[in-house]
Amino acid sequence: MLAIENSIAVITGGGSGIGRALAELWLKQGGKVVIADVSEEALRLAEAEMKAISPHVTSIICNVTQEADCEKLAEKAIATYGAINLVAPFAGITSDGLMLKTDKESGKVTGKMSLTQFRKVIDINLTGVFLTIRECVEKMVNNRCKGLVCLVSSTGSLGTAGQINYASSKAAMSVMPKVLTAEFFRRGFADRIRCMAIAPGYVGTSMVKALDEKVLDKILEQVPINRLIEPEEVVSLVAELYRNEAMAGETVFIHGGLRLGSKG
Ligand SMILES: NC(=O)c1ccc[n+]([C@@H]2O[C@H](COP(=O)([O-])OP(=O)(O)OC[C@H]3O[C@@H](n4cnc5c(N)ncnc54)[C@H](O)[C@@H]3O)[C@@H](O)[C@H]2O)c1
Repeated sequence: MLAIENSIAVITGGGSGIGRALAELWLKQGGKVVIADVSEEALRLAEAEMKAISPHVTSIICNVTQEADCEKLAEKAIATYGAINLVAPFAGITSDGLMLKTDKESGKVTGKMSLTQFRKVIDINLTGVFLTIRECVEKMVNNRCKGLVCLVSSTGSLGTAGQINYASSKAAMSVMPKVLTAEFFRRGFADRIRCMAIAPGYVGTSMVKALDEKVLDKILEQVPINRLIEPEEVVSLVAELYRNEAMAGETVFIHGGLRLGSKG
């Protein structure tokens, strides 16, 4: 079992929501964190509040779609703490809409999801994750670090209407642990660097709270535990996956029993 104490976590999207909750958990358990976010304001606020928990937090403004930013992020972690043990590329966005909108009466197509709307989500949620983990794992390999790459998929990956961009990016998060575990195995370091994904249902962060109240009520009707999942519940799972070295190459769902099929 790995210990969180004195381990170093690199967390993108660390300025808010699940990323921020993970950074706070890591600090409370004696770890050290590098938080990265594209939002300067969120990052500064989060870092200031985290300093009250532990001095072992540093931050860097980083747009995960930019290769140079991701390189600087990994370099900062090594320059500040000398190692990387957890990579949590949690920066992500939604931009929902149907691929085709049709007129109720004529049945004819009245609108299409733009290429810009599709690409924006893929750039951040998929390409941004690729760049973050490529740069961080390079440092882990070269510095002989032990630890976990923990990706964040979603129940949306199973195919939610209105999310062709988001769902596609999150389905990719479920295959990456298998690809990377196989690659790490081939190169002989899968015993030191593992990859897992978590797939949350509806978590009470700004991403979900921004939804229309009626839409949220409809969603909650499908959740047996009858509430949103707390970010703290999600990051407690990440901590367990980090500690437990038997966990590799898989995606673990955490959704409160979300009914994805018929209620029967
Ligand atoms: N909230 C949910 O219900 C839920 C469910 C499943 C998966 N997720 C995933 O969890 C992750 C975190 O989501 P959250 O709910 O905490 O959302 P959030 O909006 O609270 O946090 C996302 C953070 O990512 C940052 N970000 C956005 N674009 C970025 C970029 N280009 N570079 C760097 N940072 C960027 C934002 O500034 C924000 O601080 C996302 O990948 C999301 O898809 C969330």
